Amino acid sequence: MNSSFTGKNILLGISGGIAAYKAADLTSRLIKLGSNVKVVMTKNATRFIHPLTLESLSGNQVYHDTFQSTERYDIEHIALAKWADVFVIAPATANVIGKAACGIADDLLSTTILATEAKTIFAPAMNTVMYQKRVVQDNLKKLEDFGYVIIPPGKGRLACGDWGEGKLADVDDIISALEEILWEKKDLVGKRILVTAGPTNETIDPVRFISNRSSGKMGYAIAKACAIRGATVDLVTGPTSIDPPKGVNIHSVESAKEMYNTTIGLYSYSDIVFKAAAVADYRVQEVATDKIKKGSEPITLKLERNPDILLELGRTKKHQILVGFAAETQELEQYALRKLKDKNLDFILANDVSTKRSGFQSDFNQGILYCINGDVETIPLMDKEDFAHRIIDEVIKYI
Ligand code: PMT
Repeated sequence: MNSSFTGKNILLGISGGIAAYKAADLTSRLIKLGSNVKVVMTKNATRFIHPLTLESLSGNQVYHDTFQSTERYDIEHIALAKWADVFVIAPATANVIGKAACGIADDLLSTTILATEAKTIFAPAMNTVMYQKRVVQDNLKKLEDFGYVIIPPGKGRLACGDWGEGKLADVDDIISALEEILWEKKDLVGKRILVTAGPTNETIDPVRFISNRSSGKMGYAIAKACAIRGATVDLVTGPTSIDPPKGVNIHSVESAKEMYNTTIGLYSYSDIVFKAAAVADYRVQEVATDKIKKGSEPITLKLERNPDILLELGRTKKHQILVGFAAETQELEQYALRKLKDKNLDFILANDVSTKRSGFQSDFNQGILYCINGDVETIPLMDKEDFAHRIIDEVIKYI
């Protein structure tokens, strides 16, 4: 469960395009995240997806016919407009975009757009030529100037067979935009934050490397949480197979040496550093230029130490707040406190990685956050996104 969504009222407007079917997935995801969802559909939208589907998924009546309840129509759009914490129109056709840009209110959806004071998001979806038409672009620009949020469509094969811009944005992107609006604490505005995430790969030969089990999930969750809270975020990431969060500056690296150079390069601009990466402590001393051939004899790889990035950050610290991570399977407190002192940190998160339920690769984490001033905060097992916010809540007290 993501706390940004818990108990929040999300009004979903669906207009008539083939992408209307994706609104079902969006509704289902938002309900699973803990929000309340009500749906308003245009008459055309009901021809692409049956209101019953949305009604079943949202658990609420779907509003689709202007004269569904004639005597209540005048108040219906006002009631929905007031109910919404946020209003998202997905898919938004050229027609609904044009109406909203010109203040036309001739059905329940367009009337509700005009009547609401809730932050409103448009996720356009249409044929490429339509999308690129000057009038549609002008209307989108107008909406942006009025303070509406536009989630640009993606590129790809469209239902009409054309190839290009116009595909409804990914549901993940729509959810991220909603999350950014729903998160009320914008307490990192003006801060620049450096996050490291993922493993590093240390090359053995052109086809082999040494690495570790870090998925990048923890570091990505911290980067995302900082961005949602208003910070400018630099994410230095080792190789991962997960999508990076939106709205952060991504710096992709392979090895510990590359991570060292990139991190040190960004350090002087940063106010807070979260070092969630699992950096390889050793690299192969002599990297083979060709693939090592197997034989019957054992082979020996000589390893040499990689630079300790966090140690260097601690040594050269000026105004920055340094938050280290210590992945431990035993003696959590003792090892973490040693790193806190030795690396001149402000905080260290002693990450209990002894169980599969938390730490490496899991969607969950648990640990103890130690502050150099003696404060100790135990963070129980929770979703890594909520865990990230809990760490930030503590670190922010220190600013
Ligand atoms: O990526 P996930 O699958 O989500 O998993 C998350 C995690 C378990 C990797 C993460 O929560 C975590 O605990 N990261 C730190 C893992 C680690 O390498 O700990 P360490 O005790 O080896 O290092 C201590 C600190 O020094 C870390 O902040 C590390 O980034 C840093 N370090 C270590 C070695 C090195 N050469 N340079 C460093 O900067």
